[in-house]
Amino acid sequence: MCGIFGCQSLQPQNLVEKTLQGLKILEYRGYDSAGIAYNATNQLKIIKAVGGLERLANKTTTPPPTNVCIGHTRWATNGAVSVKNSHPHLSADGSIAVVHNGIIENYQQCVTKLAKHGIKLKTPVDTEVIPNILYLLSHNKHNIHKYLQGQYVFCATEQLQNNLFLAKKGSLPLYIGRDQQTIYISSDTLALPQSVNQIIAMEDLETCEIINQQPTFYHNNHPIRKDWQPFNQSFVASDKNGFTTYMEKEINEIPAITQRIITAYQSDPTIRTLQRQFRTQLKTVNCVHLCACGTSYHAAKIIAHIIERELHLRAIAHISSELNATTLLAEPSLAIVISQSGETADTLAAMDILQQQNIPIIALCNVTTSTIAKRSQIVFPLLCGPEIAVASTKVFCAAVLVGCLLINDYNTISCDNLIKYTTKTLRNARKLLPTPSKIPHQIFIIGKGINYTLALEAALKIKEVTYLHCEGYPANELKHGPLSLVDDNTLAIVFGDDSANASAEIQARGGKVVTLLSPDYQHNPLAFVSQIIPAQIFALDLALSLGNNPDKPRNLAKSVTVL
Ligand code: AGP
Repeated sequence: MCGIFGCQSLQPQNLVEKTLQGLKILEYRGYDSAGIAYNATNQLKIIKAVGGLERLANKTTTPPPTNVCIGHTRWATNGAVSVKNSHPHLSADGSIAVVHNGIIENYQQCVTKLAKHGIKLKTPVDTEVIPNILYLLSHNKHNIHKYLQGQYVFCATEQLQNNLFLAKKGSLPLYIGRDQQTIYISSDTLALPQSVNQIIAMEDLETCEIINQQPTFYHNNHPIRKDWQPFNQSFVASDKNGFTTYMEKEINEIPAITQRIITAYQSDPTIRTLQRQFRTQLKTVNCVHLCACGTSYHAAKIIAHIIERELHLRAIAHISSELNATTLLAEPSLAIVISQSGETADTLAAMDILQQQNIPIIALCNVTTSTIAKRSQIVFPLLCGPEIAVASTKVFCAAVLVGCLLINDYNTISCDNLIKYTTKTLRNARKLLPTPSKIPHQIFIIGKGINYTLALEAALKIKEVTYLHCEGYPANELKHGPLSLVDDNTLAIVFGDDSANASAEIQARGGKVVTLLSPDYQHNPLAFVSQIIPAQIFALDLALSLGNNPDKPRNLAKSVTVL
């Protein structure tokens, strides 16, 4: 979480606008406050604002051309959401500004060390130690990793210098891109302008200083050479394609993505080779461990179900953060990690545990350049393009479909039926699951088997964007406790037609029941892949009717890079 963007050029340019544009695209990484720093008439000018990027843009009227600008969009981890706590943070003498993503674990030690040099910090934010330590290191700043512990990336600039200084420890992403006139720094390649045609990814324990658009790299304080890689920005991330929210746009992309995945997984030679490798590996193991968080965990749970049903092979879905060194992982086994962003810290930590036990890791990942992808033996792309809305929708359907296609070669009829069914479900979503005229004070979503997992995912989506209390539950389990909560202001959404008893029990207590009938799985064995769509649209519409921005739910961020 937190987005870093910066630029530098030889000639003064509109770099403040460019930084604001980059930050706008990175806003999915955190949106509780934002700030920029640039060199103006020989001093560092800092502008910060609490709230979305518009607030910062409104405070940044007619900025002058400049040679350097750095910016940040924040998801608060330590220190309240306030202008003072937002980035950039300055060294005590005001000469160095820093934007940072991650955590400085030895923050207290740094504070004590700085105090010995008479430097007192102004905020409780760990970031503030960085510009001050850089100030103390002076010409030895490539040695910074020796002084900072934790997982971090940061970008600094100095008054009068027009330079950029970058550092990375751990796995958080940071990229350098360039076009003819400008060099850019970004937490995500997505925010790089279309003119950028070369990039370099910062790696663990590296530092980089950029002077006059020329980067020089160090690894652990030793100079290293890194080469520019060709880059082609093939999409316009900020385009909502006529929809008012990214969430709606992304749900509407599901039929086209379904088609894209089926074509690729049936005929792309590289993917077919990887599929064969995966299937051969599956034959050698007794158990498959799937690890993921949130929506990706729900996709993992469904894939585990399919592996057991179709292959009669034991498959266990783990919430990444619940996997620990004492979890019994049957031997020999294989792991599948699922992630949209490929940067989720809890899943990366689960991968550490899997790797310590020598379990091979396969990733289902939407961002194939991500850390999770890089650390996996085989990566199966989810082919969704960027997912911007914090609530994951299209990637859930993609992950479930890719999981199914890895396990089985479904025939053309089944695949064609899925595409038709997805299009029809999307078209009829609002009829299948209408937005209630009266807002219920709680929502239960129930089902059995895969439908129970769909209920969990629907409930997560609804609570994420509506802030209403919503619970996914196994249908028959309701009577063992939660039924006591049901009253005449309860809405229950029932996935499937095999939960009649639970539905009747809810209705008998005044609850309203809407049933989403299961498709004919005999005729269409893949239909459950898009069965979630009406609930996604329901969550979206309910959020909008409550006045919430579904793309940026309160307290959340798209890519969760903290433990
Ligand atoms: C989904 O709507 C959520 N925003 C969240 O649960 C997400 O799925 C989770 O944080 C995992 O992210 P990942 O897929 O990028 O690893």
